[in-house]
Amino acid sequence: MDAEIKWTGSPFRGLASYGVDDAPIFFGRTRAQLRLRALLEDRAAAKRPWVLVTGTSGSGKSSLVLAGLLADVRKPGLVAGVGEARFVVVRPSDAGGDPLRALARGLFGEKGLPELASPPLLYNPEQIGRLLAAGSVRAVAQGLAAVQTQLSEHYRPLLVVVVDQLEELLRLSAPRCDELVVALESLSAAGVWIVATIRADFVEELDRHTLGRRFDDEGRFLLGLPTYRELGQIITRPAALAGLSWDTDETGMGLDEELQRAALRDPAALPLLGYVLEQLWHRRRSNGALAFEAYRALGALEGAIGRRAEEVFQTLPEAAQLALPEVLARLAIVGQGDNARPVAESAAIDRFDDESPARVLVDALLAPDARLLVASEGTIRVAHEAVLTHWPRAAAQLETDRRDIQLIVRLREHAHRWLAIEDEQQRLSLLLAPGLPLTEAEDLLAHRRDALDDEIVELIEQSALLRREHRTVSVDQLRELTKHFASPHDRFQLDPSFESERTREQLEDASIPPPDLAHTVVFRLLQECVMANLVRPVDAPHMWHAAMLRKSCELTPLGKYYWRLVADGKL
Ligand SMILES: Nc1ncnc2c1ncn2[C@@H]1O[C@H](COP(=O)(O)OP(=O)(O)OP(=O)(O)O)[C@@H](O)[C@H]1O
Ligand SMILES: [Mg+2]
Repeated sequence: MDAEIKWTGSPFRGLASYGVDDAPIFFGRTRAQLRLRALLEDRAAAKRPWVLVTGTSGSGKSSLVLAGLLADVRKPGLVAGVGEARFVVVRPSDAGGDPLRALARGLFGEKGLPELASPPLLYNPEQIGRLLAAGSVRAVAQGLAAVQTQLSEHYRPLLVVVVDQLEELLRLSAPRCDELVVALESLSAAGVWIVATIRADFVEELDRHTLGRRFDDEGRFLLGLPTYRELGQIITRPAALAGLSWDTDETGMGLDEELQRAALRDPAALPLLGYVLEQLWHRRRSNGALAFEAYRALGALEGAIGRRAEEVFQTLPEAAQLALPEVLARLAIVGQGDNARPVAESAAIDRFDDESPARVLVDALLAPDARLLVASEGTIRVAHEAVLTHWPRAAAQLETDRRDIQLIVRLREHAHRWLAIEDEQQRLSLLLAPGLPLTEAEDLLAHRRDALDDEIVELIEQSALLRREHRTVSVDQLRELTKHFASPHDRFQLDPSFESERTREQLEDASIPPPDLAHTVVFRLLQECVMANLVRPVDAPHMWHAAMLRKSCELTPLGKYYWRLVADGKL
């Protein structure tokens, strides 16, 4: 029996999509694979090698393109005339949301065009990024020419660029998208194939976008759900490769057949099926049998993700459990509509401090036998959105926090735009406007600080401080104020001659000097600055007391911030 085992380790991928290296265990999509390849060849022949793979969430788009299509086109000669196929896979959220940089870097990967880095070309990713952004494919053409020298004259090299999860692009800024569009457009004109995957529910939005218009109707491929027969292949063929067997129940039905039937009933079945299969593998008997008992204990097809997540959750200390809202607010986005489904978002792992309760929760969900979250290159995300929709506790929490999460998403984008601006004056203009935007952000800060990135906190705090000030103090007044403080740490000495208002007794008290006109003008400015939180009295509750008691006043942290802006000539 051992002689038949062709795959060690789990032959299932759980919630993850299949990658190029998973081609040997990828089954059940032969028809779709053939049709997709044929479509690309047609589109390439029509000099429009752009194909958009759409389908419902979790229908297997990414897996089909990576483990199916790419694995196929790499087989020499399978695509007419192509002797060597190279590829790059990018997600719009890669490289911190800079897909062009990710593409440029990806080209240097082993399966991309590593020739670019070798003599005589000696390019680096930054150079390639700049060239592509400018619409120049000279370097890529040189890289392909270098591959051509390794091939016979009957064959040519092919480069395929895959943009996986294209829906993420819709959240990027216009310049980032435009850059990518320019690069893809020029690459396709040079014969590079462009294949993208996108959820069907985002297609309408994509169509209104510059990039959407690049995918013409003929280049769209709708991936349907697998048929009953295909589900059978998906379930049994990887198991056979790994030498696994299936239990039968009292009626003689095999677990494989039970899974096949259950999967056919549920249109969102593939991720659930993938998860159950992998969990069954973890719980296999020592003889390699996948067991009914384990299947039932997992909660069958629909229940497995939720039950496993809940099991992991219940083993955690209370503090870690209480961190669930924070973790979800970082790992999910909820669209603007009331019915919008949650969408996964990645978060840098270092947003969760070591040993913090949130980190304990994250680590438990990341553990190999849970695999409800996945980590790569310092970021984490849910292994599939099914975790957000099929774990009842998470789904309920997301529903409760819907408004907060929508606001966090808006603020996150706002904070990134705000921080990207170097000009101090322009940055001021991008602060949150007084009124509703600022009030709702301040409320959020008061009750959800844990789930907010430092950038968002900074944006809200600065907006709150500066907007209040902007209502009362002009730039001229700020400049004037600065003249009265030789350094930001100076104190300004006051005495009664600054204050024109007196009580009756004070008016009669000869020891109190009369008001001085010049001083009262300065004092009025200082008082306005107190109201704007730029200046504060020292050792006195109000400016009036400070003057009458001969105390001083000083700049607040905000006043010091402005003092420096004026001193640096930025105001
Ligand atoms: N041919 C297949 N055999 C077994 N499992 C599959 C197959 N195709 C997809 N899956 C599983 O289905 C789930 C979804 O796959 P994949 O990520 O490729 O889908 P998708 O359509 O790209 O999803 P999304 O809408 O989230 O981008 C994963 O759990 C994956 O392992
Ligand atoms: Mg996908």
